[in-house]
Amino acid sequence: MTVMEAIGRRFSVRKFKPYEIEDDRLERVLEAARLAPSARNLQEWRFVVVREPRMRAALAEASNGQGFVGEAPAVIVACATSTEHVMSCGLHCFPIDVSIAMAYMTLAAAEEELGTCWIGAFNADKVKELLGIPEGVIVVGLLPIGYPDAEAPSKTRLAMDEIVMPERWRD
Ligand SMILES: Cc1cc2nc3c(=O)[nH]c(=O)nc-3n(C[C@H](O)[C@H](O)[C@H](O)COP(=O)(O)O)c2cc1C
Repeated sequence: MTVMEAIGRRFSVRKFKPYEIEDDRLERVLEAARLAPSARNLQEWRFVVVREPRMRAALAEASNGQGFVGEAPAVIVACATSTEHVMSCGLHCFPIDVSIAMAYMTLAAAEEELGTCWIGAFNADKVKELLGIPEGVIVVGLLPIGYPDAEAPSKTRLAMDEIVMPERWRD
C-alpha cells in the first residue's frame, strides 16, 4: 500500500469489531510512531497501550463518555514527557511532535486494515489519574484502535484552491 492509499483509506472509526489486535500488527503501528520525526529529535513521546477492558471503559468515561473509545480492543494514550522546549517560531515542540507520531500511527493502522479515531475530547486529569501518569507528563491524545465495523464515509474537505495560495497570502 502506498502512503497516499493509506491516507485515502484512513477515516475516523467509531465502531469496532470485538476482535483482539494481533501483537505484531500493533507493534508495527507503534513502530511508525517510534520512527516519526520530532523537533531536535527530542522523541518526547510516550505511549501507554491499554487493552484491559475495565480500564478502556474508564478511559471512555474520561473521554466525555464517548463509549466507542472503550469498545476498541486497544487504546493508545499518547503523552509528552518534556514540555519546556519552544521553537524559535514561538511554538511548543511537544504537541506537534506527539501529533506527528499519532498521525503516523493512524496511517500505519490503515495499512494494517485497522481503524483509529483521534480523541481530543477527554479529561486529562482523569486520564492521568487512571493510568498513574506523573504530574509533569502531558496527555496529548487518545487513539482507540481496532478492526473497523463501519464503512468509510466520503471525505468532506475544502477544495484545493481554498487552502493553497500561490506565492503570496490571498484573502
Ligand atoms: C485533534 C483531533 C481531535 C479529535 N477529537 C475527536 C474526539 O474527541 N471524538 C471524535 O469522535 N472524533 C475526534 N476527532 C476526529 C475528527 O472529528 C475527524 O478527524 C474529522 O471529522 C474528519 O473526519 P475523518 O477523520 O473521518 O476524515 C478528532 C480529530 C483530531 C485531528
